[in-house]
Amino acid sequence: MQDKLLQLKTNALAAIKLVKDKARLEEIENKLLGRKSGELTELLKGLKELAADTRKVVGQIANEVKTEIESALQEKQQELSTSSWADALEKERVDITQPALPAAEYGHYHPNTIVQRDLEDLFTAMGFMVLDGPELESDYYNFTAVNIPATHPARDMQDTFYIKGHGQNSDSPWVMRTHTSTMQVRSLQKYGTPLKMIVPGKCYRNEATDPRHEHTFYQLEGMVIDKGITFSHLKGVLEAVAKHLYGEETEVRLMPKFYPFVEPGVRGEVTCFLCKGKGCRLCKNSGWLEIFGAGMTHPNVLKEGGIDPNVYQGFAFGFGLTRLVMLKYGISDVRLLESGDLRFLEQF
Ligand code: PHE
Repeated sequence: MQDKLLQLKTNALAAIKLVKDKARLEEIENKLLGRKSGELTELLKGLKELAADTRKVVGQIANEVKTEIESALQEKQQELSTSSWADALEKERVDITQPALPAAEYGHYHPNTIVQRDLEDLFTAMGFMVLDGPELESDYYNFTAVNIPATHPARDMQDTFYIKGHGQNSDSPWVMRTHTSTMQVRSLQKYGTPLKMIVPGKCYRNEATDPRHEHTFYQLEGMVIDKGITFSHLKGVLEAVAKHLYGEETEVRLMPKFYPFVEPGVRGEVTCFLCKGKGCRLCKNSGWLEIFGAGMTHPNVLKEGGIDPNVYQGFAFGFGLTRLVMLKYGISDVRLLESGDLRFLEQF
C-alpha cells in the first residue's frame, strides 16, 4: 500500500507538471481526488482494512501524499491563470510609438461613372432634371410607346432580351430595356410639359460580343419638350455638349438617320478630338466620330405621353455613354468595362 501511494504521488506530480491548460488540470484533479472513483480516494478506502499500527504509519504517508498533490494542483492553477494574463497582455499590446501603416486602398469611381457625373453636371447647369428608370421594362415603354409597333421592322434594329415569366405571351411582354428612350413617354406621363430631362443608364442587347459590342452598355438619353422648340435648339444643346467634352473648336455635324421616335432624325458626329478632323486611326480617317442619335420628337410619342403635338414640340437625343467613355480613355475593348477586372479598373 505504501508503495502504491508513493507510485501514485510520483505519477501525479509528473502529470501535473506537464499540464498546459485549465481544462486538463481539472481533469487530472478529478481523476486523483474525485469523490467517487478518484485514484487516491480509492486507495484511502483500503486503509480501514489495515492493522491499527500499520494504519497509523500508512495513514500519515497517505495524508502527506494528498497534501503534496493538492499543493501541486494549486500551484499549477495559479501558474496557469497568471500566464494567461500575461499572454493576453502581450497580445493586446499597443505600441504607440509605431509609425502609422500606409493608408488602406480607397475605392474610386468606375470610368462610366466619371463620364456620367461630368455630363450630369453639365446638363443640370442647363436646367435639365436627371431621371432614373427601370432596366426591366415593359415592351410598351421600350417599343410601342416610342412609335415602334409590334410588327414594325424597326424592332429588328435592337436585338432584344425578352424576359421569361413576364407575360411573354401576353400583349405586352417584358424586356431588358434596349435603350434609355423608354423614359421619353414615362417622363412625359409623369411630369408633363415643359420638360427638360436626361436619363443616364444601363441598356441591354442580345449581342454576340466582340471588342465593339457588349450585351450591357450605357446610354444617356435627353429630351426637351415645350412650346416653340426648334431644330436649332437641338443643335445648340448638342454643340454645347460636344464643346464641353472635346474643346471649343469642336464642331458637330448632323446626318439624316431613321429613328421611329423622331422626325426628322439624325446621327450626330463631332470633329475627331485626336486628329482635329484630319483623319486618324481613331476616326477611321473620316475626321469625325459618331457619338449620338437625335431628332425632333415624333407626334405619336407626344400623344402617348398625353401631350398635344399641335401645341408642344421638342427634341430627343441619345448618347452612347459607353462610347464616350471608350473615346475619352482610349479603351479599345468594350468588354473591359463590365469585366470587373481590377487590373483594368485600377487605372482610373
Ligand atoms: N434610342 C436610340 C438608340 O438607342 C438613340 C436615340 C435617342 C435616337 C433619342 C434619337 C433620339 O439607338
